[in-house]
Formats: sequence, C-alpha cells, structure tokens
Amino acid sequence: MDIAELWPPFRIRVACGPLDMRVMRDSDFPEALAVAHSGVHAPGRLPFYVPWTEATGTDLERSFLQYHWGERAALSPERWSLDLGVWHEGRFVGVQGVSTRDFPVTRTGETGSWLGQEFHGRGIGTLMRQAICVLCFDHLGFEEVTSAAFSDNPESLGVSRKVGYRADGQVRYARSGALATNIRLVLAPEDLVRPPYDVSVEGADAFVELVQPRAT
Ligand SMILES: CC(C)(COP(=O)(O)OP(=O)(O)OC[C@H]1O[C@@H](n2cnc3c(N)ncnc32)[C@H](O)[C@@H]1OP(=O)(O)O)[C@@H](O)C(=O)NCCC(=O)NCCS
Repeated sequence: MDIAELWPPFRIRVACGPLDMRVMRDSDFPEALAVAHSGVHAPGRLPFYVPWTEATGTDLERSFLQYHWGERAALSPERWSLDLGVWHEGRFVGVQGVSTRDFPVTRTGETGSWLGQEFHGRGIGTLMRQAICVLCFDHLGFEEVTSAAFSDNPESLGVSRKVGYRADGQVRYARSGALATNIRLVLAPEDLVRPPYDVSVEGADAFVELVQPRAT
C-alpha cells in the first residue's frame, strides 16, 4: 500500500502551467532544504512571524523538519494546514501553504509562502498563490482567503495586490523585539484574479473528507 492511501494530504496535486504543487513527503525535504540553505531573502530582512530563516546549518534543518512534521501530526478539522512544495519546470523552488482554524465553521485560511531567492521576481510567487486560491475556492470549500505581510515586504504585498486581495487593516507586532506593522489582506472568491493557465487538481475529495467529516 502506498503511503498516500493512508494519508490523504499526500494525494493532493495541483498543476498550473509550469508549476506542480503537492504536499511534501520526507523524501522531498533534502531538496527543499538545499533551496532554503541557498537563501530565501536578503540577509537582515524579517518577512516571517517566526524568523526560521535566521537559523543556519543543522539548526535550520531540524527546525524545518520539526515544523513540517509538527503540522502534519497536528492536523484536525479544528486546525489544519497544507504546505505544498512547488516545482517549476521540474525544479523545486519553494513552498506555498494555507493554514486554518475551525475551518468547518469559519471557511477561511491564511496563505503563506517562500521561494528560493534565485527564483524571485519571475512571477512564480504570483502563480503559486493564484493556484492555491483556486484549490481553496473551487475544491476545498473556502469562502475567503486571507494573507498578511509586514509593511517592509513589497514583494508579498505585490503578489496579494495582483491576485485580487483587498486591504483589511493592520496589526502592530513585536518583531524580534522591534515594532513592525503587519498588513492584513482578504480575498473574496469573486475577486480572485485567476492564473493564465488551467489549474488541474487531484486528491481534493479525500482531503475534504478528512478535515470536514460529515455529521452521522
Ligand atoms: C513573497 C515572494 C513569494 C514573492 O514571489 P515572487 O515570485 O518574487 O513574486 P512575483 O514575481 O510573482 O511578483 C512580485 C510583485 O511584487 C512587486 N514588487 C517586488 N518588489 C517590489 C518593490 N520593492 N516595490 C514594489 N513592488 C515590488 C513585483 O514588481 C511584482 O509585481 P509586478 O509583476 O506587477 O511587477 C518571494 O519574494 C519570497 O519568497 N520572499 C521571501 C519570503 C517571503 O517574504 N514570504 C512571504 C511572507 S508574508
């Protein structure tokens, strides 16, 4: 029996033009870590709530593995996340995720993403965000998708603008001990700027059954 028969998230596959996206398996982690090690952003920038890219060497590797294993282990209808590895023309380039709380009631979730620095600025971040929004709205039953980025992250804010999100306030954050403004964004299904390619999705039904069990 393949592990994907036992664990429905492993069945999700999203294809969109040059992109293939799927939940990473353990065998994908070395390739993902090689890209993370090569750099995700310029030194000194702090784009994430948890500054995981500040770590180096085995510290980065262990925190990366434990984060992904932890999210997998904690999955429940009340709290789940999907972290899709992203391959561009067959090459691993980064991760596009979405995380939720009380999804059967709230029908919302926040996207988060990163790309190896060498892959920035080519439209890949926009395309992978568009693709996960199609997965969320057309296949997983989302009624909205949110995003957030610090005010000094114009790349992430640029992606959100291009994909159709609208501003939804801002929050003051203590980021590594200093004040930072976190810009909140929200996307309604009718505002989604769809990608210029068809999006093909496999495996969504089994995942929906796992995280939205029907009342018996
Ligand atoms: C955020 C991220 C995924 C975006 O991916 P990307 O492939 O570089 O983004 P794209 O090329 O699709 O588009 C970025 C948009 O922002 C715009 N942008 C980039 N830098 C900008 C700047 N300094 N000022 C204004 N706009 C900017 C780009 O011009 C582009 O819009 P355009 O196509 O209309 O020109 C990538 O930059 C990344 O991994 N950053 C580090 C991790 C991170 O910040 N993750 C998000 C945490 S919230």
